[in-house]
Amino acid sequence: MSRNAEATAKAEICGSEHRLLDKIVGENNRMSHDLFEAAKAAMAKAYAPYSKFPVGAALRTEDGRVFTGANVEVASYPEGWCAETTALGHYIMGGGGRITEIAVIAERVAKCSPCGGCRQRLAEFCRPETKLYLCDDGGVVETVTMGEMLPYGFQGEVLK
Ligand code: THU
Repeated sequence: MSRNAEATAKAEICGSEHRLLDKIVGENNRMSHDLFEAAKAAMAKAYAPYSKFPVGAALRTEDGRVFTGANVEVASYPEGWCAETTALGHYIMGGGGRITEIAVIAERVAKCSPCGGCRQRLAEFCRPETKLYLCDDGGVVETVTMGEMLPYGFQGEVLK
């Protein structure tokens, strides 16, 4: 192969790698944005008359199903529960499976971070590499992993 032909071939390979990378990045953005939209729609259904702090959550399973939830408050305050927990209830009743992505949004704060109890509940059905999208009103602001959110969480294996 001549030097020129070699250079052209290399440029073509580089170009196709870039296109593939763009496709993957584009796909990931689209996927995370649609989960954000599902979480935002869920937040609109929150029942949060006491805290006035609506939260929405959306989970996606590895086969592409999406389950959502909002927080539900009760006049006896400790009896209320979080958006993530509502979403997990829907997910279990919808057949469960491995969770691959989670999005959380709150109306009054960007990057609402799941509480400790919800991290443990979510981790039950996730892998450490499961992505958690922390959102604001416009979309995903930060992506973290469940492993980062709950290092050293209680492991169900010890009960076996
Ligand atoms: N809340 C959630 O729904 N998810 C979280 O991760 C943090 C807090 C709710 C619970 C309560 O209804 C309100 O936010 C204020 O604590």
